[in-house]
Amino acid sequence: MRTNQYVIDFYNHYDEDRRLKLKHGTVEFLTTMRYIEKYLKPGDRVLEVGAGTGRYSHALARRGYDVDAVELVEHNIEVFRQNTMPDENISVSQGNALDLSAFPDNRYDITLLLGPLYHLYKREDKLQALREAVRVTKQGGIIFAAYVISDGCLLDEGFNRGNISVADYISRGLLDSRTFAAKSEPRDLFELVRREEIDDLMAELPVTRLHYVAADGCALLMREAVDAMDNETFRLYLNYHFATCEREDMVGITSHAVDVLRK
Ligand SMILES: C[S@@+](CC[C@H](N)C(=O)[O-])C[C@H]1O[C@@H](n2cnc3c(N)ncnc32)[C@H](O)[C@@H]1O
Repeated sequence: MRTNQYVIDFYNHYDEDRRLKLKHGTVEFLTTMRYIEKYLKPGDRVLEVGAGTGRYSHALARRGYDVDAVELVEHNIEVFRQNTMPDENISVSQGNALDLSAFPDNRYDITLLLGPLYHLYKREDKLQALREAVRVTKQGGIIFAAYVISDGCLLDEGFNRGNISVADYISRGLLDSRTFAAKSEPRDLFELVRREEIDDLMAELPVTRLHYVAADGCALLMREAVDAMDNETFRLYLNYHFATCEREDMVGITSHAVDVLRK
């Protein structure tokens, strides 16, 4: 099994739970949950692959759903276990999205793959993780696959915040100087993609697309403004985001996208 030590080191030291506490950090969660809730039925069984500290898994288990979770990094599993409440019907195990052989075919109503594709760099690996997610999902079940989108990140972390140097990325061959398409390697940590690459993966799978969603839209790009909103303005902003997050003319500028697929 190929294991990316850069990912393990990063998540062993990263405060994943803290990221989600500010308003801008909740937009992606609230948006994705909204779509999950559209398809959840009483008695559904959920698998979360790359569950992190369990924000989705616990939220769903606390609503009475049976949840199994798989996570690569031990530190996250420890926090996941600490976050578990006594009445949750939930399991978590260490594992890799590339090999879900511990789970049978056609078992889950909902399968969440919200993270591992951020850290798989080869097309074949991304397809392998997606195929595994599809395999364990029941016929008619729903798969949620999340990606990090290059244009949202380039605008936010590059041109806006200067956390990455766009010129340096071009000179290192990590960005195409003409199209600005990204090309990541494991040491860059995050695999940045565009919609056409996601369409290309989706076309290889025995699934139908139900939604393609800009999960956080411009929320990270304008995080200071979002965090400064009072609760009423933030509610209005969320309504705006929910109303526009599937619009063809809006989906490209986002930090994360979620593909919602039916098997
Ligand atoms: C950005 S976090 C998202 C966590 C969670 N799904 C959420 O949305 O809150 C990505 C998670 O995927 C995990 N991960 C990365 N590569 C993985 C792999 N190949 N198999 C399983 N988990 C993986 C990471 O350790 C990390 O916990």
